[in-house]
Amino acid sequence: MLTAIGPASMQSEQAQAGPASQCLSNKKETKVAALFNRQRGNDIRRGSLEKRTRKLFHELHVVQGDDPRIYQRLRKLLSPAYLNVARNYFCGKVCLDAGCGSNANATYSMLAHGARKVFAFDLDETILKSAPKYLRLFKGRYELSTGTVLDLHYRDDFFDFVHCAGVLHHARDVYQGLAELARVTKPGGLLVFSVYGKGGVAREITSLLRDKYDKDKEFQYVIDNLTERQLQDGVTWILDEMAGQGDSWGKKIPRGLIRRLFDKDLVLTIKDRIKAPIYHEDSEEELVAALKGHGFRKIERLTRYPRYQNLRRFLSPLYYRYDHPLARLFYGSGFVQLKAVKEGKGRR
Ligand SMILES: C[S@@+](CC[C@H](N)C(=O)[O-])C[C@H]1O[C@@H](n2cnc3c(N)ncnc32)[C@H](O)[C@@H]1O
Repeated sequence: MLTAIGPASMQSEQAQAGPASQCLSNKKETKVAALFNRQRGNDIRRGSLEKRTRKLFHELHVVQGDDPRIYQRLRKLLSPAYLNVARNYFCGKVCLDAGCGSNANATYSMLAHGARKVFAFDLDETILKSAPKYLRLFKGRYELSTGTVLDLHYRDDFFDFVHCAGVLHHARDVYQGLAELARVTKPGGLLVFSVYGKGGVAREITSLLRDKYDKDKEFQYVIDNLTERQLQDGVTWILDEMAGQGDSWGKKIPRGLIRRLFDKDLVLTIKDRIKAPIYHEDSEEELVAALKGHGFRKIERLTRYPRYQNLRRFLSPLYYRYDHPLARLFYGSGFVQLKAVKEGKGRR
């Protein structure tokens, strides 16, 4: 199944080491919905879901990457402080960024923190053209390829550090992907991944909207063409109406604040949540059990206080304190970010 990749020098050094649809749980499925479900089933078999997934994310990632404010936020996500490891942890390490995305922000971070080499891949060749633009500073220290997390083209026990952020819940099989990531992690190496958790009111709402996006062409059009300007204009119109009716709040809320709260980053998040073809949900317990099954120990849940500039800023405490009752109600098991060490001897 597997052939090792990487430049010859790396290979010799490392050679010894080496349903889909969330749709309609509703029993009263309409004929139209049933058709969509069948279509999604066919899509999965043909692999066109992967194409749609990549196409969507390519569009979103390029916009993110080209906006300095957003890209800076993304590049800061992966750091030794977040991982709770030594400041020089990445120095000399051979790393994997699985499902790196078109702007390869985590690859950038690992290289900036001193990684010796980062291998990064995503579903298709769109990344081969776009990612190098963001990685100009690190020529020769990264290698890009195409592939799926469900069947990795790397040797067993190859990487010191394996990173996979926000990818597995978009893949056809979360646990097959996790098994592959576990396989290529060196004994003593670290695996860090993040996936969408299970449950919570926010996810129920998103599921409804995803369903609507599948079935309702008008809604599809609105979401596909949504811009920050439309959101800002909509909210401003509401405030103007309020002011016109003598409601003082309509006048008090500064219009500049509205522009900040409803920004481009927010529009990208809305499109991601509603348009991505697959959004699996898994609980922390299920994921931890799988990691243990693959021989991982020191399993820790990571958390961070996200530095959003927009409306999501109000949600940051819920992300950070994922176990607070309010966070559980809203986000269920939350955005599950796990770090684990592979059993066996080896340098960390
Ligand atoms: C939310 S983006 C995250 C990108 C990047 N890891 C980041 O943190 O910015 C999800 C990425 O997963 C990729 N993806 C989805 N299914 C995949 C699979 N089976 N194998 C590899 N990548 C996949 C998508 O193409 C997309 O780039």
